[in-house]
Amino acid sequence: MEALDVLKQRRSVRVFEDKPIPKNILEDIIDCGRLAPTANNMQPWHFVVVTDKERLKYISEKATYGKFIKDAATCVIVYCESDNVHHLEDGAAATENIILAAKAYGISSCWVAGYDRTYEKDINEFLQVPSNLRMISIVPLGYSTQKPAARSKKPLTDVIHWEKF
Ligand SMILES: Cc1cc2nc3c(=O)[nH]c(=O)nc-3n(C[C@H](O)[C@H](O)[C@H](O)COP(=O)(O)O)c2cc1C
Repeated sequence: MEALDVLKQRRSVRVFEDKPIPKNILEDIIDCGRLAPTANNMQPWHFVVVTDKERLKYISEKATYGKFIKDAATCVIVYCESDNVHHLEDGAAATENIILAAKAYGISSCWVAGYDRTYEKDINEFLQVPSNLRMISIVPLGYSTQKPAARSKKPLTDVIHWEKF
């Protein structure tokens, strides 16, 4: 897909087919996350890739608004080092790269909140994540035929301001 089509056609998808994602594609998607910009090029991240069905089920049961994670082929949890002052922005940049790279491969996803959520601690313990890392996001990935309803977005004219507000 063309880069601009990827950006403009991406939608959050929460219904997935029961079809695995090849490992080389998953690695390339994570590689795109790794290449995101970071403050001072600190790259404070780690990416936990979960494909095991039982693990997906556990995460889905914990994530308040992520019950559909259990049906995903994979879920990537983005972590960043908490002592890095820009860990939230850096992790968000990596998350969006992952979502867009997946879209370019024809793989659907949905950003599920992870930062400062009540379930962060349980999932971190379950995944044996070191305590200096903060969960930034959970990104279920999978093939899907779902066509989300027409999107409701603010018009460009409401949000663009030329030269001054
Ligand atoms: C920080 C963040 C947290 C989100 N958390 C959830 C979530 O927990 N569960 C969910 O179903 N969608 C979640 N979303 C997806 C949003 O609901 C979605 O992006 C929004 O409705 C716009 O739809 P679109 O992605 O199709 O443009 C989250 C998105 C962001 C950026």
